Amino acid sequence: MSTPKNQFSPRIFSGIQPSGGLTLGNYLGALKRFVEKQNEGIETIYCLVDLHAITVWQDPARLRDQTREAAAGFIAAGIDPKRSILFNQSQVSAHAELGWIFNCVARMGWMNRMTQWKDKAGKDSEKASLGLFAYPSLMAADILLYHATHVPVGEDQKQHVELCRDIAAKFNHDYGVDFFPITQPVIEGAATRVMSLRDGTKKMSKSDPSDASRINLTDDSDTIAQKFRKAKTDSEPLPETLEGLKDRPDAKNLVNIFAALSDQSPTEVINQYAGQGFGTFKPALADLAVEKLSPIANEMKRLMADPAEIDRILGDGADRADVIAQPILARTLEITGMIRSRRT
Ligand code: TYM
Repeated sequence: MSTPKNQFSPRIFSGIQPSGGLTLGNYLGALKRFVEKQNEGIETIYCLVDLHAITVWQDPARLRDQTREAAAGFIAAGIDPKRSILFNQSQVSAHAELGWIFNCVARMGWMNRMTQWKDKAGKDSEKASLGLFAYPSLMAADILLYHATHVPVGEDQKQHVELCRDIAAKFNHDYGVDFFPITQPVIEGAATRVMSLRDGTKKMSKSDPSDASRINLTDDSDTIAQKFRKAKTDSEPLPETLEGLKDRPDAKNLVNIFAALSDQSPTEVINQYAGQGFGTFKPALADLAVEKLSPIANEMKRLMADPAEIDRILGDGADRADVIAQPILARTLEITGMIRSRRT
């Protein structure tokens, strides 16, 4: 992990939307790596971004449940809420305040170029919420409110983190300061883009109408095994080299998932299974996935039985996040020319 050339000490921030259950994509592309960063001893701040979730309609009661469930998922996967800060975004109002400042720094043209905006708004962008359009600016606020230097994310968030860098650079330039870091995206490992189990050319997503396309972190062992056994593949055996997977997106996806779950490289997996058919590989993958994921599902269930304790953990995290965020917000407001005369 290289450190940006400025005065900022290493600090990790990342977030996940509680807009549905967590998927294997969220786990391998983000959560598993969040745990690794925490265990490397770097300061880590993780956020359930509920303000982002409401950029598309969310039923209020379900949003609350999904936020608690996502928090349970983080803890079950290995986030220790004492070592990391874990909280939900709306409890730290400075996110929305800095988000507004950044709405005035970011340019319409930058937002218009965001591929996720184009995908999510679709053809009927007139009917999309203003929040969905401004979404990347709030995401930049999430990151820069903590002067985070590194942001672990999956491949699909790269463009948003690059926009965060543009916002930081423009703010620093316009106001003649070196106040915000130029944050690095950290996109590492074998599964930075986990694909649908039904279509290896589409991203695995919590919003896919087909439940068989994804593994949910709450799926039980039988469901996990069945989904992998039924995953779409071709009829060829696995190739001798990675190169041989180039035009085989479904096979490549399963190899990458196997590699990420077993902490190996895709080449090591290919070396092990070269020449073998999916009749052998899929059951091995199903067993591995059950071994790695079912303890997480069981622990989530246990944690979900005590929602008050989850709320307490999120509240404690929000208090600690606020302590870091407030001085950075106050200084930002000062830099932008806002009068700060209340000292309560
Ligand atoms: P979200 O909620 O869509 O996804 C959360 C994280 O999971 C990763 N991810 C995947 N990785 C690999 N394969 C997949 N199929 C897959 N699906 C999701 C995402 O890349 C992400 O890292 N805008 C963000 C949330 C956010 C955020 C932030 C992230 C808001 N503020 C600040 C980092 C820093 C999002 O919608 O992620």
